[in-house]
Amino acid sequence: MEKLDWNNLPFGYIKTDYNIRCVYKNGKWGKLEVSSSEYINIHIAATGLHYGQEAFEGLKAYMGKDGKIRLFRWEENAKRFVYSADGIKMASFPVEMFREALFQVIRLNKKYVPPYGSGATLYIRPLLYGSGAEVGVKPASEYTFLVFVTPVGQYFKGGVKPVNMLICRDVDRAAPLGTGTFKVGGNYAASLRALMAAKEGGYASTIFLDAREKKYIDECGPANFFGIKDNTYITPKSESILKSITNMSLIEIAKSIGMKTERRQVPVVELSTFVEAGACGTAAVICPIGKIFDPEKNKIYEYCRDGKPGVATMKLYNKLVSIQNGDEPDDFGWMTVVE
Ligand code: PLP
Ligand code: COI
Repeated sequence: MEKLDWNNLPFGYIKTDYNIRCVYKNGKWGKLEVSSSEYINIHIAATGLHYGQEAFEGLKAYMGKDGKIRLFRWEENAKRFVYSADGIKMASFPVEMFREALFQVIRLNKKYVPPYGSGATLYIRPLLYGSGAEVGVKPASEYTFLVFVTPVGQYFKGGVKPVNMLICRDVDRAAPLGTGTFKVGGNYAASLRALMAAKEGGYASTIFLDAREKKYIDECGPANFFGIKDNTYITPKSESILKSITNMSLIEIAKSIGMKTERRQVPVVELSTFVEAGACGTAAVICPIGKIFDPEKNKIYEYCRDGKPGVATMKLYNKLVSIQNGDEPDDFGWMTVVE
């Protein structure tokens, strides 16, 4: 194993020792198999390649001060993985096998779990795709599941440092009744034009609006949006966004620290009323938003003018991260000790 600089890891791919695979054939799932190869052998007519029959998940394992490795709300990821599979007509991967695969892959790659205090974590990426051959547009009859892990640092650079975001009005990530609530690769492909344009303009990410009216906030690239005002945590309700497990958790944390919470449509114009704003997700954790630029209206919405995250954002962040690291009692019952 190459020596890793735990404090400065990118959010990228670093090879680990093992991954786990499993194949669905003749109507049933086979056994979990351990592999040390980084490659898959795939049929040239696999539906995953041609018709986007592919879904994935993302979750993290955390090393505690006590040397225990913990997973955050893995059952929620398992359930969403089933929901995404159903959404694009794939054979779903059973929740109990998902747990077993996660535990195995973490234990086999234990030495890659970043140390406590480094700010880095072990990112776990389960994947499911149609591996059976079809040429007509229809679901495959064979599927492959795999899960790999990779140690990662922050997704949005610079610790809990505010980033700027660009409102996107010329690309839709997902249609209202489309695949936006499923974690399928096609949504990410659809987001790339907008994301690259935002990056070229010096923004950390793009903020997608509802595709129907372009009136409401949808989400922030690969993370959900939240705004804060009047001691209230407000997050968009939309039929085209991924239901973030981090966001669900922040709603509960906000309530537990005496904040009010609202999940409802958030009009773009409301951005001028928020005192704080942020993006949240497994990779993003909580990323405070410094400024949002709306090119059509030539308007800048500004939060954290002193370059520092707001008080409420930091309260939510500290609470979430200390639960995940095992520093605080797991009052919500979110953590599972793997080893
Ligand atoms: N929205 C999108 C499009 C994402 O890819 C993610 C990441 O998984 C999120 C939101 C955040 O979801 P979660 O908190 O479950 O990681
Ligand atoms: C995650 O937060 O786990 C994600 O899936 C975001 C991403 C890097 C696609």
